Amino acid sequence: MPAPGPPNGGGPNLPTDLDLALSDTNSVATGSNVTIQEHEYERYYTPRHGRRFHTFPGSQYFLPADEEESRRLREQHQIFQSLLGGDYYQLLGEMLGTGGNGDIVVLDLGCGPGTWVEEFAEEFQFAEFIGVDLVPMARQQLENAQFECYDISARGIGERNGDVGVVHARCLSFGDFGRLLQDAHSVLTPGGLLISIEIDWRLDHQSEFPHFNMQATQDFLGRVATCAAVANAGVAWDPALIPGWLVDAGFQNVQREVREIPVGPWMGSQPMQELGRLVQTMYIKFVAAMRSALLRLPGADVAQVNDLVAEVMHELESEENDGWSIPVYLVTAYKG
Ligand SMILES: C[S@@+](CC[C@H](N)C(=O)[O-])C[C@H]1O[C@@H](n2cnc3c(N)ncnc32)[C@H](O)[C@@H]1O
Repeated sequence: MPAPGPPNGGGPNLPTDLDLALSDTNSVATGSNVTIQEHEYERYYTPRHGRRFHTFPGSQYFLPADEEESRRLREQHQIFQSLLGGDYYQLLGEMLGTGGNGDIVVLDLGCGPGTWVEEFAEEFQFAEFIGVDLVPMARQQLENAQFECYDISARGIGERNGDVGVVHARCLSFGDFGRLLQDAHSVLTPGGLLISIEIDWRLDHQSEFPHFNMQATQDFLGRVATCAAVANAGVAWDPALIPGWLVDAGFQNVQREVREIPVGPWMGSQPMQELGRLVQTMYIKFVAAMRSALLRLPGADVAQVNDLVAEVMHELESEENDGWSIPVYLVTAYKG
């Protein structure tokens, strides 16, 4: 269905109700009534502050959607795999079993570059994977996976009608999350599994008296929280609220676990130090990715935002910031 053009006013019209799936001719086939060729991808993006962003009308999502962000998300995926890979294999293994006739659907909401889908579609080849995102960032051609493109906040995911065995939602601090979980509940088959992974915007410290207070980083994270609240329909975003939202949505057996990932190579064993180094690098890229969103906050001043970003990066690179960590929430729940 044709729709008003993208917010930047340029390019051809942008369909609002767009289901994309890569066909073997490397064009994009839609599940509804639109087919988009590869050369048309560009109209889903608009440049801003030296990065590229989505053009979906009405969406408040604030991080870039370019190659740089795609790389950052792939690195972040590796961090999650180190931290949670075993949990994923166990949960998905229990849900999907070791065989099947291919009729179990696994839905990845806000799939980004499709790294999670790629990893687990390969592992569980008898299930059908679907990744959904605002932008056609995921281009992989996989036997048992497809990628669709639409705004899950505006349109919801309800049209799948209860045929989904697993819903995976990772790093989706935007949109009305409580409502999204209600939608997830309605598309799941009875007994179906919801997996939510979220990073807390607040840093933790492993001792009471850190010798470095990460002041600029705390200030920066406060502003990130404001962006997230704007994108979360004005509701403060806090991953600690997810279990309550799940219960409200009708989920059962809600389990929550919080794991800390070190920001820097200061924690414990060699593998943990390696993980900390990856987190440090990825987080610095996240700070750079947030610059445009900070510049769009009311009253933002370019010089001040640039100074803050530079200071945060300096703090994150500092060898004195040991002890700081990021809480990661792993929440699972089942439809009764
Ligand atoms: C921080 S990224 C996380 C990507 C992926 N889940 C991962 O963990 O690697 C959030 C993704 O959600 C997508 N997104 C944001 N708002 C969306 C919406 N309303 N509907 C669909 N996707 C959305 C963004 O385009 C982005 O790719």
